[in-house]
Amino acid sequence: MLENKQTAGADLTNLPRHIAIIMDGNGRWAKKRGLPRTAGHAAGAETFRRVATWCRDIGLEYLTVYAFSTENWHRPEAEVQTILGLLEKYLHEAIERMERDRVRMRFFGDTSVLSPKLQKLIAETDAISRRLDGCQVNVCVNYGGRDEILRAAALYAQSGEPMPPTEESFSRFLWSADVPDPDLLIRPGGEYRLSNFLLWQAAYAELYFTDTLWPDFDEQEMCRAIAAYQRRERRYGRIAT
Ligand code: IPE
Ligand code: IPE
Ligand code: MG
Repeated sequence: MLENKQTAGADLTNLPRHIAIIMDGNGRWAKKRGLPRTAGHAAGAETFRRVATWCRDIGLEYLTVYAFSTENWHRPEAEVQTILGLLEKYLHEAIERMERDRVRMRFFGDTSVLSPKLQKLIAETDAISRRLDGCQVNVCVNYGGRDEILRAAALYAQSGEPMPPTEESFSRFLWSADVPDPDLLIRPGGEYRLSNFLLWQAAYAELYFTDTLWPDFDEQEMCRAIAAYQRRERRYGRIAT
């Protein structure tokens, strides 16, 4: 745990409930070091472990990470397989540890197109998570915000729920059902876009961008983002108080 002076001014006793992260910059991190992009993904997976553990330690309720988008299928097959392979490795470890660590996991995205092995691991983590309380980590895999909204619309139409939907009734059909909207959305890697991440849920998220590449991200960077969030005034369309 960080000493007070190391928290970059962040008050860790007054956290946002939900932080979302676009884990971007793995490829550029590797390139800078003359390594293959896949090495960047391996380093990024380590960073995810470290940041997720820290979030649990400070008592964050929800962490949502963007691991693989619906658009990432357009990358070279070998890179796609590396990313999904790292996810598999991570889930193997998580299944061993999540009960002890008290970390719940959920998946946002259509996982039915993933390999049977991955689907089985996901089903196992789901089953363990249902027995746990504590920090919830939502991993977005084959996730796209537009895809999520379209699916929710189709599911809603078939559900017999009253028309027209309300924001509340509609959002129960999103992957994120029962999860509060993110308060803080962090994008490392120097790009200033959402890349189809949480389009519905991030309507009023505070956005934080940094040039730091995801594999270089750490607790200090998280603190900087939280400190920046704590200096913002969330007005939700109202006037300053
Ligand atoms: C993010 O890093 C990981 C995924 C998109 C899966 P990138 O692979 O996009 O890294 P850059 O943006 O090319 O550096
Ligand atoms: C967003 O990063 C997706 C993930 C981090 C999983 P990308 O690297 O795919 O986004 P673009 O292509 O720069 O918008
Ligand atoms: Mg990228």
